[in-house]
Amino acid sequence: MMSKIMISILLFSVFLSLQYSKPSAAQTWIRAGYWYYGSGYLLPISDIKSALFTHLICAFADVDPSSSELSIPYSAQPYFSTFTNTVKQKNPSITTLLSIGGSSANHTVISSMVSNASSRKSFIDSSMKMARLYGFQGLDFNWVSANTSSHMANMGILFQEWRAAVDSEAKQSNQTQLILTAAVRSTPDIYLGNASFPVDSIRDNLDWIHVMAFGYYTPQQSNVTGALAALFDPLTNASSDYGIRVWIDRGMSSGKLVLALPFHGYAWKLKNPDVYYIGAPATGPAITPEGDMSYKDIKAYIQRNRGVVTYNPTYVVKSCTVGSVWICFDDAEVVKNKVSYAKQKKLLGYVAWQLPYDDNSELSLAAAQGEGQHKGRLLVIVLTTTATVVLLLGLVICCLRRRMFKLKGMVVTSKESDSKINHMEAAGDFNGNVPNLQVFNLAEIEAATGRLSIENKLGEGGYGPVYKVNFYYTANIVALPHHHYKCFKFTTKQICRNITLIYEMLHFGNRS
Ligand SMILES: *[C@@H]1O[C@H](CO)[C@@H](O)[C@H](O)[C@H]1NC(C)=O
Ligand SMILES: *[C@@H]1O[C@H](CO)[C@@H](O)[C@H](O)[C@H]1NC(C)=O
Ligand SMILES: *[C@@H]1O[C@H](CO)[C@@H](O)[C@H](O)[C@H]1NC(C)=O
Ligand SMILES: *[C@@H]1O[C@H](CO)[C@@H](O)[C@H](O)[C@H]1NC(C)=O
Ligand SMILES: *[C@@H]1O[C@H](CO)[C@@H](O)[C@H](O)[C@H]1NC(C)=O
Ligand SMILES: *[C@@H]1O[C@H](CO)[C@@H](O)[C@H](O)[C@H]1NC(C)=O
Ligand SMILES: *[C@@H]1O[C@H](CO)[C@@H](O)[C@H](O)[C@H]1NC(C)=O
Repeated sequence: MMSKIMISILLFSVFLSLQYSKPSAAQTWIRAGYWYYGSGYLLPISDIKSALFTHLICAFADVDPSSSELSIPYSAQPYFSTFTNTVKQKNPSITTLLSIGGSSANHTVISSMVSNASSRKSFIDSSMKMARLYGFQGLDFNWVSANTSSHMANMGILFQEWRAAVDSEAKQSNQTQLILTAAVRSTPDIYLGNASFPVDSIRDNLDWIHVMAFGYYTPQQSNVTGALAALFDPLTNASSDYGIRVWIDRGMSSGKLVLALPFHGYAWKLKNPDVYYIGAPATGPAITPEGDMSYKDIKAYIQRNRGVVTYNPTYVVKSCTVGSVWICFDDAEVVKNKVSYAKQKKLLGYVAWQLPYDDNSELSLAAAQGEGQHKGRLLVIVLTTTATVVLLLGLVICCLRRRMFKLKGMVVTSKESDSKINHMEAAGDFNGNVPNLQVFNLAEIEAATGRLSIENKLGEGGYGPVYKVNFYYTANIVALPHHHYKCFKFTTKQICRNITLIYEMLHFGNRS
């Protein structure tokens, strides 16, 4: 009986879909955000909630036109020089990067810097010196306006030389190597200039890239409404999913892609106020000269005008129509879905562009929550129907059947039986041969199944009784055949109300 319970499989069904992602090697999850000096008045550095992030990026330093050295705008100096120390006060383990360039940087100056070997050297040497001086742990090259094949080739050379310089600087200074990243466009291809980002050099020389996955439609450029940053687009290639797929097709590892989340949207003027779908005729920007609005302003506008916000699950965007104004934007729900997508695609993380546009950290918080309790080694599965669960159960059973005789039904206890969330986190926290496996104890199983009530019994499986239960908190399924650790995790608290799940409890008798 005891061993039956120990290895009992509880069957649930999941009525809402969840995100899916595979356990990966010791990969960290990057939660990054840009703080742009140009809109810094909206968010003083000391107000950044740095505990929500792993990396903060201070933007933007320039390239000096005559010396090609990195330079910081005079008025920005007091902010850039104190940035790292300030954000570390709320999160001592935060990593800061200094970003160079940006869309308003002087294109000509950067293009001439990258084209000349001695200029590149001046730039590289000065960038490392500046990073060390102000305590930045990395550098981010943000030249998204590069648009010719010679720009791209030179940028590739720059990255190669930069990597070599960073390597030797770390050895000489006896300090941790500086991180090297770049901001790139949503796809590697620039059709107008018939050019592509130097994918090979990026892959070999940079730690990761920030994929600026937005800007697909703006009211100044399009006479029909469109989304700034649709995750998907069934009709065109103007979507973040398309761009990510092309980056990967070209040879970028998904583990080096960090997905940008725009914290702004656009307001369009509709040609006809009654026609307001994506692709509706539009006559230009509304509300602001270019139609761009921070999330904070969008929210305030909608509240003021009692606008009704609708979610478009096909594109993964929100929109709101007020009279002849149509606003399309990403809110907390969209942000969470995009973070789930990044997990599912095994990307390295996300980066907010930009923190000053947030509304009291609402989107930053949603992004951090979008990953749930995910610790990088949990497998969260998408299950929309009971059938899927049953199929999965079959697989798990098949996998386990052969080794069942080896698995001695040992005593299953937990140290902190009252804290289920702790269990979940601990369960994802094993990596050696000896799993630090936290499992449910008998009392918890009894509670979840109504004291193994007959009402909740669905049937008898090969490994014991199968029960239906309701979980209102996060729950894991842990299976460890062949030391191949898998953890299924349901973040039920936020997403699922009624959830049934397969629960497998195993305990290794042969710990070494
Ligand atoms: C870019 O820099 C060059 C060289 O300093 C200067 O001549 C040019 O006016 C600048 N362009 C812009 C748009 O500021
Ligand atoms: C590269 O830049 C240096 C310093 O500005 C200059 O002396 C040299 O002539 C340039 N080389 C080329 C090939 O333009
Ligand atoms: C480098 O740093 C380590 C510890 O941080 C120290 O033990 C070592 O002596 C240093 N080496 C040099 C060459 O400074
Ligand atoms: C490249 O970008 C620059 C600056 O945005 C622009 O002036 C130039 O016309 C573009 N060239 C091409 C080929 O698109
Ligand atoms: C685009 O570039 C490729 C390779 O660099 C070249 O073969 C092709 O002819 C170019 N196309 C146009 C339209 O310039
Ligand atoms: C999207 O891009 C692919 C190539 O990456 C191309 O074959 C396809 O025709 C494009 N679709 C549209 C609608 O432009
Ligand atoms: C939008 O512009 C395109 C060409 O730029 C034109 O073919 C199309 O008819 C225009 N659509 C509307 C609704 O004005």
